[in-house]
Amino acid sequence: MTNTVLVIGGAGYIGSHTAYLLAQSGYRVIILDSLRYNQTVNHTWATFINGDCADQVLLASIFQQYNIDSVMHFASLIEVGESVKNPKNFYHNNVIKSIQLLDCMIHYGVKKIIFSSSCAVYGVPQYLPINESHPTAPANAYGKNKLTVEFVLEDYAQAYGLRYVSLRYFNAAGAHVGQGLGEYHIPETHVIPLLLRAIREQKVFTIFGDDYQTSDGSCVRDYIHVCDLARAHILSQCFLDAGNYSDIFNLGTGQGYTVKELVTHAQIVCNDYVNLIINSRRAGDVPVLLADYNKALSVLGWEPIQSDMKNIMQSAYDWELYLEQKQQALNSTTKQTCV
Ligand code: UFG
Repeated sequence: MTNTVLVIGGAGYIGSHTAYLLAQSGYRVIILDSLRYNQTVNHTWATFINGDCADQVLLASIFQQYNIDSVMHFASLIEVGESVKNPKNFYHNNVIKSIQLLDCMIHYGVKKIIFSSSCAVYGVPQYLPINESHPTAPANAYGKNKLTVEFVLEDYAQAYGLRYVSLRYFNAAGAHVGQGLGEYHIPETHVIPLLLRAIREQKVFTIFGDDYQTSDGSCVRDYIHVCDLARAHILSQCFLDAGNYSDIFNLGTGQGYTVKELVTHAQIVCNDYVNLIINSRRAGDVPVLLADYNKALSVLGWEPIQSDMKNIMQSAYDWELYLEQKQQALNSTTKQTCV
């Protein structure tokens, strides 16, 4: 029998890539998404429901109508800096809604969930690369949100027989342009799309801090291709489907890039230069994040295969062109309609 997976936030960045791969892997996919960024969704490979997972009536009707076997939960506010400025929204959206979702799952007897966690749970690293045994001490509200939900998952697993996989993503990047999938946030705050846009639109790109204890003073992050992340979800789903108990995995490459190194890669892909300014450090940023993914390798059989920086940057660039063409097509249709 085909298993049905409810993908909450399945029209978002990592959620959409995963939903597509789930469908390709033979799962029946139900997407619940509030279309926070006004994305267009016209997939033939999934059932799409427009709504918020905080809507208890809607959620109950989905669990009643579809024979949901498992849930993947991607819906989350993600801007680290914003979480420091405005933690209220983050706790409401990322913690309270997640608990309500888990309560609803328990009520309807749905016992498997894959949760989108983050390397932000670790805070400032005590050693590198970071493995899952590294102490957790989040440096911002976003990381605290994710860690809180992990605690809830642990207790719900013990008390109610829930089984979960929590995936601690490092920095998601890249796109699956062939399927019209890529990064789309309003406002965009992530370094790679901002950098590519600055080059293409001849605008200034700001580096947040160059006084960190790193090779060139700018922050180091571990960029992981979104398609590699999507594949980790399928393997985690198989892991739960096979009856395994709950677990937590880091998803990264173990290789880091400074912001200044990203600038070099982006300039090569765009074949152009960027105007840089150095600003002060961004609140909530930690100097270096690097993953040890050996646990995901040994338990899930997962390893990054598309996360070479050239590949990440090229696909992110192709996605920017795709978005631009889509916008131009939309503008010309609007013009024609107005004439
Ligand atoms: N950066 C700049 N200039 C910019 C934007 C970002 O210098 O215009 C720097 C940041 O200071 C940081 C690095 O680029 O050092 C990466 O920043 P992003 O905003 O792209 O990503 P974050 O590391 O802040 O956050 C992302 C996700 C989080 C996740 C985190 C894990 O948004 O959800 O990765 O590291 F938790």
